Amino acid sequence: MLRFNLIVAVCENSGIGLKGDLPWRIRSELKYFSNTTKRRLDSSKRNVVIMGRKTYFGVPPSKRPLPDRVNVILSSTLKSNELPNEVLIYSSLEGAMQELEKQKDQIENVWIVGGSSVYAESMASPRCHRLYLTKIYAEFECDTFFPKIPESFREVSPDKDTPPGIQEENGLKYEYKVFEKQE
Ligand SMILES: NC(=O)c1ccc[n+]([C@@H]2O[C@H](COP(=O)([O-])OP(=O)(O)OC[C@H]3O[C@@H](n4cnc5c(N)ncnc54)[C@H](OP(=O)(O)O)[C@@H]3O)[C@@H](O)[C@H]2O)c1
Repeated sequence: MLRFNLIVAVCENSGIGLKGDLPWRIRSELKYFSNTTKRRLDSSKRNVVIMGRKTYFGVPPSKRPLPDRVNVILSSTLKSNELPNEVLIYSSLEGAMQELEKQKDQIENVWIVGGSSVYAESMASPRCHRLYLTKIYAEFECDTFFPKIPESFREVSPDKDTPPGIQEENGLKYEYKVFEKQE
């Protein structure tokens, strides 16, 4: 079965978004997102990012589709002529995964990158392996929130590529955490 990981940054009041954008600016955290979702061992394969329509359009136009990754958007309203040719649209998460599964020899990692309902559905799925969660140690005004993490997830040691301990940028403290779904 083709599995996926989730990646998210969450503040202390469980927020992830405000007015279609991120509530904070942490350049090194954006770099971590980019590096983590691009990282693969076999350069002949590709990584996939799956996101809801609002998350895709929250990315600045000059930075989307996210480069070096297959971009998959979940939407029941978008038409393919509203997006660049290389972007794939599916009307359900499981539908997208079943299509990707047909080409799984060419795929190394699938990343779920938001938003709220996509994270909730993904964490409940048997396809879910790990949750890469950046905990931001501050409160922000938010209108979009991360769902409760199911009890089946346990915190595990981060990979060697993850900077350990509390990080800080412009006085804002945050920490990279990894959770794994227990089978
Ligand atoms: N902090 C973080 O790490 C992080 C990560 C991601 C996003 N964000 C923030 O979160 C906000 C966007 O998230 P959001 O929760 O509001 O919206 P979203 O999940 O990105 O987009 C919602 C839309 O996606 C489509 N969709 C979602 N699940 C679907 C499914 N299972 N099947 C088919 N279509 C589906 C629907 O589009 P249609 O209406 O077209 O059917 C739905 O209206 C932004 O502020 C963004 O910056 C933050």
